Amino acid sequence: MSARVTVVGSANVDLVTRVDRIPAPGETVTAESFAVFAGGKGLNQAIAARRAGAQAQLIAAVGDDAYGQLLVDTIATEGMDKNLLRREGGATGTAFVTTDATGENNIVIVPGANRLLRHLTDEERELVSESDVLICQLEVPDTVVEDAVTAAWKSGTKVVLNPTPVRHVPAAILAAVDVLIVNEHEAQQLQVDKLPVPCVLTTLGSKGSTLQVRGGRAIHIPARKTIPLDTTGAGDTFVGAFAAEVARGVEYEAAAQWASIAASLSVEEPGAVPSIPTRRAVDDALGPKREENQ
Ligand code: RIB
Repeated sequence: MSARVTVVGSANVDLVTRVDRIPAPGETVTAESFAVFAGGKGLNQAIAARRAGAQAQLIAAVGDDAYGQLLVDTIATEGMDKNLLRREGGATGTAFVTTDATGENNIVIVPGANRLLRHLTDEERELVSESDVLICQLEVPDTVVEDAVTAAWKSGTKVVLNPTPVRHVPAAILAAVDVLIVNEHEAQQLQVDKLPVPCVLTTLGSKGSTLQVRGGRAIHIPARKTIPLDTTGAGDTFVGAFAAEVARGVEYEAAAQWASIAASLSVEEPGAVPSIPTRRAVDDALGPKREENQ
């Protein structure tokens, strides 16, 4: 069965510095290593859905620089349609990621070409309409998110919104959302229990996640025990893997359980894209339990 997932969102190059501890304001520390990875919440989530076995595509904008080419090549290597990445004049989005010895990080993004993804073309709307699940985040303008969720809503495509970096979400976008995926800080900032969405999934790091379908009881999904090396992209892995499972027709609770295993594997490797596990790796980690999710 084909499970079609379309992601409308950001693509960045991540400039990742590994330090023992993240410096305080005004402090200088020496890094242990530096690396350049493909990243961006949109790109990470599309690759997570793809590696989970979905027919995933990413609609995004990159610059006409070498970093843009790196991201185009990354998308092609994953077997996705590189022509859906718009090449804009100017710089590709960049993220400065600092990761400490506990695997925690902080990130500063420079949006670059992501800011230029303002609207979908008719062909792109069509792609959204033909998909089982649409994923959006907020590293691109609200206008393009609204275009995408409207096309999805009109055609019955399920909408998964990961509202990060957190900011006010316009009512026109919220009205089309089927599942909102937030971390615990975003849940607080957005006061998600007051938002008019049918389902909220809150990720809680090593404590697992909570699934709250409106009118139902909250379901806790435990996390697999792990020793985190780098948590960058773990949330994106969860979102993409969850969407891929939902696109296959899996119920939300089982989809979240599967996504939680995928996210736990991603923190055991450095970088966002390199750490996203394949379907086989997740099924292997699940062991005999995997039958329950088929
Ligand atoms: O969620 C992790 C991602 O956030 C990084 O890859 C970085 O590019 C930022 O978008």
